[in-house]
Amino acid sequence: MIFHSRKPEDLEMPLDGFLQAITPIDLFYVRSHHYTPTVEAESFSLKVSGEVGTPVALSLKDLKKMPRIELVGVMECAGNGRSFYSPRLPGLQWSHGGVGNARWAGVRLADVLKKAGVKASAKHILFDGADVPVGTMPKFQRTIPIKKALDPDTMLAFEMNGQPLPQSHGAPLRVVVPGWGGDCWVKWLTGIQALDKEFEGFFMKTGYRHPGKGVPPGTAVDPAQMKPVESMRVKSVIATPKDSIVFPQGMSRVAGAAWSGEVPLAKVEVSLDGGRSWNPARLTSSNGRWGWQTWDYAWNATPGSYRVQARATDASGYTQPSEQEWNPSGYLWNAVQTVRAEVLPLQMTSYRSSCLGCHNEDLIRGQKLTRAQWEREVEKMMRWGAQVPAEQKANLIDYLAARYKP
Ligand code: HEC
Repeated sequence: MIFHSRKPEDLEMPLDGFLQAITPIDLFYVRSHHYTPTVEAESFSLKVSGEVGTPVALSLKDLKKMPRIELVGVMECAGNGRSFYSPRLPGLQWSHGGVGNARWAGVRLADVLKKAGVKASAKHILFDGADVPVGTMPKFQRTIPIKKALDPDTMLAFEMNGQPLPQSHGAPLRVVVPGWGGDCWVKWLTGIQALDKEFEGFFMKTGYRHPGKGVPPGTAVDPAQMKPVESMRVKSVIATPKDSIVFPQGMSRVAGAAWSGEVPLAKVEVSLDGGRSWNPARLTSSNGRWGWQTWDYAWNATPGSYRVQARATDASGYTQPSEQEWNPSGYLWNAVQTVRAEVLPLQMTSYRSSCLGCHNEDLIRGQKLTRAQWEREVEKMMRWGAQVPAEQKANLIDYLAARYKP
């Protein structure tokens, strides 16, 4: 994991996670506003109150007696990708991995609300976790509108990937709001309140708000002019090849994962020329309506420099933008990602073994030398231990001189 903060716990999934159809728990991103609480499963009680006929308190046993549902769902932090915004914004500096895809099991939130006799006056459902704020920081509380709360796929989950919910992921009970930002997926859930209006707390009225459209970079927007973040946007991430990679020509692949929010994912395409032409990628998982799909594109890579991109389109026809519009909190990043790759001719494959053993290509790429200087450089490296087959030495010097010249 990539550590952003140990306490509160904020961990990011590395890029390789996007090659897995289901994210293993030990790679699944963690986002916490407060310190991680311990909630004992035995004494656990979920209190349902507010605009209901009969307030109830349910133990874990009570919940497990109710009809069980299961689904694969992608959860993404609203601020995933924040580090790519310019000008930069405060908040966790996620790159791509503030997202994961798990199999969740639990009960329908709708069933729990019905058990308490939710009234017609209930318009928003408030989730309250057992985590305790530090200092005078506000509690982390979120509401979702009643319509999404009653959706048959909105869930209170006690299992993740077939195991009891782990502590970092909200044990023993968390909210699962498929298609919506992770900020609604409240962890360590101990209280639910049905409200007749949207909650007034900090994390609804100030935090997790988006202007609904892009604004000129650097503009401050009054939170009253913004709306709570709800659905996530269609997005794809390339897990392989890695940026700045150098590899020999031949069969290779471009692969990663793609997902969407309320509007389902429709397709993924791959470009090798920086977006001038696009080719369909093959979806390689079947994670259902709310999961991410892994995808794959077979690439017969010929020598050259490539700008590899992937773009996903949702069922409404909306495609990831090539340029990201800016918003004041750095939410909902979904611009097309670009990965630079250098494919070497076959006769140059000794370049990797000869030159990229002690250091990376970055040291070489930074040089702008003449052929004579490259010749001296290669000979110096050979004296230092670089193994260059005699028949490849001239090729290697030609290659370096052609690419990294003054
Ligand atoms: C045995 C290890 C090793 C191998 C193999 C190796 N290098 Fe280096 N190279 C180094 C080290 C160590 C440095 C850094 C020297 C320094 O910073 O003083 C370096 C530095 C460089 C630099 C920076 C300029 C300089 O001379 O400090 C270039 C360019 C370079 N290497 C090119 C190559 C090329 C091309 C090859 C393949 C022919 C190669 N290296 C293979 C160890 C190696």
